[in-house]
Amino acid sequence: MKIAVIGMGYVGLVSAVVWTNLGHTVIGVENNSEKLQRLLAGEAPFFEPGLHSALAEAMQSGRLTFVETLVADSTLELVFICVGTPIGVDGLLNDQYLLESARMVGMLGDANLQVVIKSTVLPKMSDKVLEEVRLGCEERGLVFKGGVYFSPEFLSEGSALRDTLAPSRVVLGGEGLDQENLVVKFFKSVTPEAVPIVITDIRSAELSKLAANAMLASRISFINELALVADKVGGDINLVAKIIGLDPRIGPNFLKAGVGFGGGCFPKDTNSLINYAKTIGIKTGLLEAVVEVNQQAVIGFYNRVVSAFGDPVGKRLGILGLAYKEGTDDLRSAPALEIIERWRNAGGMVVAFDPLVVKIQAEKLGITSLDDATAVLSQADLLMVLTAEPEFINLDWERVSALYHGEIIGDGRRLYLAKVVNKAGFKLIT
Ligand SMILES: NC(=O)c1ccc[n+]([C@@H]2O[C@H](COP(=O)([O-])OP(=O)(O)OC[C@H]3O[C@@H](n4cnc5c(N)ncnc54)[C@H](O)[C@@H]3O)[C@@H](O)[C@H]2O)c1
Repeated sequence: MKIAVIGMGYVGLVSAVVWTNLGHTVIGVENNSEKLQRLLAGEAPFFEPGLHSALAEAMQSGRLTFVETLVADSTLELVFICVGTPIGVDGLLNDQYLLESARMVGMLGDANLQVVIKSTVLPKMSDKVLEEVRLGCEERGLVFKGGVYFSPEFLSEGSALRDTLAPSRVVLGGEGLDQENLVVKFFKSVTPEAVPIVITDIRSAELSKLAANAMLASRISFINELALVADKVGGDINLVAKIIGLDPRIGPNFLKAGVGFGGGCFPKDTNSLINYAKTIGIKTGLLEAVVEVNQQAVIGFYNRVVSAFGDPVGKRLGILGLAYKEGTDDLRSAPALEIIERWRNAGGMVVAFDPLVVKIQAEKLGITSLDDATAVLSQADLLMVLTAEPEFINLDWERVSALYHGEIIGDGRRLYLAKVVNKAGFKLIT
């Protein structure tokens, strides 16, 4: 099929590349000129495992092209909207990019086009998209006869290609989604047979995405709250998580205590769900607590480490891991940013290393980014490890002892055993 994907971010580009490599013809629309130039040069504008070679393969096929804006094309069958929905000043998801995309589709697309929203939305935002598409068509004297559907995206950064190729489920929300519908046919063509395709109403589909992220965020806050108890009574929260995770009713994932969740999705989706619920008269006390515990996870960690260390004035904090988690270069709402701001406000300096975050990206945020962990270890007065990158998990403690002149290891992901760290001559703070 010939499809267009609007927004070449983590969701849009990965989807465009995977679907091209599965045989479809894809037009990737990206209105950020810097990103577009990089894409045209065959370069992914962000890191995602496997994306570099998959993008090369897709471009070589001749079936993937990149453009700045959609162009009228009667052979286009499907359009996917994958633009950002950041949190706005009102605490709700901002639909500006979504509606701009919808307007572009309405102004340029065929009146029979099928439009699928993949961006995360608040309930009823899909209706606004449909309205914009309709209006755009109307301005051209056309009556929109296609459909607008919502298909939540559940991919995870760090495994986005794998998740797109073999998702846990595909959800399609909207009306008229029978076996003859083009959207259903498309998803059947890109989804392994064993993967359930859930066809539902649009409200349930919209809410299922917010619910999924709120649930995962809740698990992280749950284990972080329990970690405080475990620390007080001398238990090991990693072992507690392992034990409860063996219960099939609970499962092992998203039970890792540490500096909390960040990234471009959990914080904004959870907060906006809380705020949206308020607008319809519902208090989501549980989710409010999830957000509060998450803020305390990073602040509490920072305070514990700094009170053991002393005054930050004139001291250099070395950070290993800047991104919001391992396996990605995404700095959106990364706990490291909160820590850096606090340390700097207290008069300290910061050096950092993250194997996936390119220097220029860190430097845009005013962070001095070094070439490797060795450089950080040898310059730091205080060390904090903030992502579970394999090279940080497997630190060579003899090398750390030789390079690092500080006394404390702040372990923001609970990666290390106290006895190992103590043996190397350091005090471990989690
Ligand atoms: N990143 C994830 O892991 C993830 C997972 C699931 C769902 N989501 C949701 O998917 C959506 C996209 O997330 P993302 O992380 O890919 O965002 P992103 O910021 O990485 O990418 C969005 C892209 O859309 C482009 N864009 C904006 N308006 C445009 C327009 N009118 N025309 C063309 N391009 C335009 C932006 O320049 C940007 O490159 C969000 O709603 C997010 O919540 C993200």
